[in-house]
Amino acid sequence: MAFEPTPDEPLRPETLAVSAGRPEQLGQPLNHPIVVASNFLSGAGPEYSRGDGTDTVQAFEAAIGALEGGRAISFSSGMAGISAIFDNLPVGARIVVPDDSYQGVSAVVADGESRMGWKVLRLPTNDTQRWLDVIGSVDLAWLESPSNPLLDVCDVPAICEAAAQAGVVCAVDNTFATPLNQRPLEHGATFSVHSATKFIGGHSDLLSGVVVVADGADEAYDAINHRRTFGGATPGALETFLALRGLRTMPIRLEKSQANAQVLARRLQGHRAVTSVRYPGLPEHPASDLVKRTLGGPGAMVSFETVGNAISADVRMTRLQLISPATSLGGVESTIERRAKLAGQEHLPPTLLRMSVGCEHLEDLWNDLDRALGGIVD
Ligand SMILES: Cc1ncc(COP(=O)(O)O)c(C=O)c1O
Repeated sequence: MAFEPTPDEPLRPETLAVSAGRPEQLGQPLNHPIVVASNFLSGAGPEYSRGDGTDTVQAFEAAIGALEGGRAISFSSGMAGISAIFDNLPVGARIVVPDDSYQGVSAVVADGESRMGWKVLRLPTNDTQRWLDVIGSVDLAWLESPSNPLLDVCDVPAICEAAAQAGVVCAVDNTFATPLNQRPLEHGATFSVHSATKFIGGHSDLLSGVVVVADGADEAYDAINHRRTFGGATPGALETFLALRGLRTMPIRLEKSQANAQVLARRLQGHRAVTSVRYPGLPEHPASDLVKRTLGGPGAMVSFETVGNAISADVRMTRLQLISPATSLGGVESTIERRAKLAGQEHLPPTLLRMSVGCEHLEDLWNDLDRALGGIVD
C-alpha cells in the first residue's frame, strides 16, 4: 500500500524522488515495468499510448508531479516540452525571455519572432526590477535559473509571484536547478519545465522532457496535453523507464556532484590558467544574494574562462583524460564543452568552458583539470 504522508509532515523531496509513482497493489512489481504498447484492449483505461501514455509514462509523471507540486506531462525530449508551451502562443504574442536562455529556446523564440510576429523582450536574467516592470504587459514570461551556460540566477519567487498576480503565464526552465533546489510552482509559476535528459535521467543514455503544470491551471494543462497528443511528442517506454530509474538516485547524485562542484569552483578560482569562474555557490557570484534566497543548492554546473584564446582553450581540453568533451550535462560522469564553438553561441566568451560536474572522486577530477589547464599553453 502507498505510504500516506500526514498533512502536517509532508514527505521531503529526497523521499519523494525515491518513493513517488510506485505501484500500489500488492503483488505488483516494486517498479513499474517497461510497458511497450501503442494499443490497448478498449473499454477500461488507456486506449492508445500517443494520447494516454502507458503505465510507465504515468508513473514517471506521478513522481515528477509529486516533486514539483503539480501535474506533469512528459515528452520525448526537453525541447518537445518547451515547444509545446511556445506553440500555444498566438500571432503577435508578447514574450519576455532572459538574454542568456538555452540556445534551443532562443531558436524557438527567434523563429516565432520572424514567422508569428511575436514581440520579444530579452532582459538580463538577474535584473529583477526590469522583469517586474514589464511582467504585467506580456503573454508569457520565460525564466531559466541558473541559466545555461553563464549560470546567472534570477529572482524566481518574486517574478513568478508578480506574474501570478497579474494573471500572466510564467514558465521556468528548472533543468539546472532540479526540483531539489527550486520548485517554481510554489511561487505561482504556471509551468516548471525540465530537460529530463540531464540531471533527472542522470546517465546520458536517454532523451526525455517534462512540463509540470500548476494545480488548478486546467486550461494550461489541457493545452499542453493537446500539443503532446497531436504533436505526437509522447515519450517511449524505455526512455521513460530509464528517466524514472534515474530520478530515484537524483538526490544522492546531485549531493555528490554539487559537493564536487563547490570545491572545484573554489580551486579553479585560484588556478593560474583560469581568469574567471562562474558558479552560484561562490560568494563572488554576481547574484549571490539571490542564490541564497532562491536556490536550495548551487548545482553541479561550473563555467570558467581560461588564459589565452579559443585555440589554447581547445588544446587544454584535448589534454583531459577523465573529463569527457561532450555537449550534454547532468550525468554521473563529468563532461566539459567550450560553448562558443557552437553555432549561434559565438557571442559567448571564446574561452568559456562549461563543465558538468559528475560523481567521480573529487581529487581525480581536480588532478585531471589541473594537468590539462596548466603546462605549455598558457
Ligand atoms: C537548460 C536546458 N533546457 C532545455 C534543454 C533541451 O533539452 P533536450 O536536449 O532534452 O531537448 C537543454 C539541453 O541542453 C538545456 O540545457
